[in-house]
Amino acid sequence: MGGDRVVIGVTGGSGSVLAVRLLERLNGVEKHLVMSENAKIVLKEEVGIEAAELEAQADQNYLDSDLSARISSGSFIFSAMVVIPCSMSTLAKISAGISDTLITRCAAVALKERRKLILVPREMPLSTIALENMHRLSLNGVIIAPAMPGYYTRPKTADDMVNFVVSRVMDLMGVENNLIKRWKQ
Ligand SMILES: Cc1cc2nc3c(=O)[nH]c(=O)nc-3n(C[C@H](O)[C@H](O)[C@H](O)COP(=O)(O)O)c2cc1C
Repeated sequence: MGGDRVVIGVTGGSGSVLAVRLLERLNGVEKHLVMSENAKIVLKEEVGIEAAELEAQADQNYLDSDLSARISSGSFIFSAMVVIPCSMSTLAKISAGISDTLITRCAAVALKERRKLILVPREMPLSTIALENMHRLSLNGVIIAPAMPGYYTRPKTADDMVNFVVSRVMDLMGVENNLIKRWKQ
């Protein structure tokens, strides 16, 4: 029940391209997408595409303001939720238990239902507040998977670095992928 459904939240952190790649490559699962209004602005700025283009890759789309959407209820079963990229603002809200958007509400549901929640923060450097929020979330079982590519694969392009992060996120979601050449494999 719901084992093949995932919720993808996209917020206004830098790194919209990570969400674009994830949506492109995530096959074999039902994709439920929510973009914050800021995510739409950053997507246009960084990737040069409209939200509709990303939304076309999802099975279902929701407005971040629609707190009555079916995914806002614990009765909507999903196997994992990922917020990619996750802004410090959304991360802080989730850490504090604030659920005033569909993304933060779904994350709160994931927490209360003890479901897999993966956050992909992007900020540099990190404030003590952001680190404390991440610590609190981690103690509550949330996977903090920062958008930090490895360099041991000798990436040649920004695309290689995007693939590294997205591959690790897909691994965490339990979705098979061959986006990168694995270390000594
Ligand atoms: C081009 C651009 C890049 C941004 N990059 C980041 C970032 O890397 N990390 C971050 O936490 N916020 C970043 N922000 C700020 C967030 O968009 C802002 O805090 C916003 O309130 C987040 O709202 P949301 O979490 O509802 O999307 C960026 C904003 C813009 C316009």
